[in-house]
Amino acid sequence: MTNIGVIGSGAMGSGIAQVAATAGHTVFLYDNNPSALERAKSSLGKIMARLVEKGRLTPKASQEIQGRIHYTDSLYQIEAPGLVIEAIVEDLMVKRNVFEQLESIVPHDCILATNTSSLSVAAIAAACKTPERVLGIHFFNPAPLMKLVEIIPAVQTGEHELHKAKALIDSWGKTTVVAKDTPGFIVNRVARPFYGEALRILDEGLADAATIDWAMTTLGKFKMGPFTLMDYIGNDINYTVTETVFQSFYYDPRYKPSFTQKRLSEAGYLGRKTGRGYYDYREGAANPEP
Ligand code: NAI
Repeated sequence: MTNIGVIGSGAMGSGIAQVAATAGHTVFLYDNNPSALERAKSSLGKIMARLVEKGRLTPKASQEIQGRIHYTDSLYQIEAPGLVIEAIVEDLMVKRNVFEQLESIVPHDCILATNTSSLSVAAIAAACKTPERVLGIHFFNPAPLMKLVEIIPAVQTGEHELHKAKALIDSWGKTTVVAKDTPGFIVNRVARPFYGEALRILDEGLADAATIDWAMTTLGKFKMGPFTLMDYIGNDINYTVTETVFQSFYYDPRYKPSFTQKRLSEAGYLGRKTGRGYYDYREGAANPEP
């Protein structure tokens, strides 16, 4: 069983670490923020306890899964990984820096993957001396529950590395789809108008967030309304992805980002993770009914 490195212990990185550890791998979860590592560890403990309570996991298996994840704030402590998946902030320069550093640390045959939602995988791979080993492995949130994973070969990605990475993710029980290295790949591109049009309806005063969500779930039979989903994903991440897709498609107005979402993001109203977004998640808060 190859060791797996996961870079970034936020919503996605911690979920990916859980998936890999559940599949039996030893996982090294790295973050440059020690409190993010502590949060990830404590949240995994709670998730595992719930799974044991529901009878989906034995106490022994839960202990083993948790014992397979090593939390570290040093890249150098990631021991001989066969695959590293990066899930840090959605910023090209920051990601390129991390890939450049990683390449000098990991074994020469280690595959380097990015979980980016919208950035060019080719531009990330170009930061490496051996870009053949770089590709996109895009999980959805929450990673342990969402079956679909997009696999994105860059122009530079080697066939061997692509097949190896795809086979590994398939072996984790995921359903993989190979997507072209274009902004937003498949799902995030299709989803842009879902969020964008909902925000336009809100801005035009046609209906409030709760009513739009109610209409989409009750009448439209969507699992989550657009505002509930944006609050779940995080308004910072969701806004940045829209901005990247908009710029990458040469400012096609179909993908124009929303000032409403930008202001929420700037105010720190990121959604569930900060307690406020389109809705108020703080204890005792009242939210409008549709
Ligand atoms: P997050 O904000 O929850 O977590 C990011 C983590 O990366 C934080 O713990 C932060 O401390 C750490 N970090 C930032 N810069 C770092 C650096 N230079 N070195 C080490 N650690 C660093 O973000 P989230 O939601 O987990 O997203 C991460 C990536 O996954 C982004 O590229 C995003 O586009 C992508 N993604 C996000 C999804 C979502 O629904 N939130 C879904 C699929 C992909």
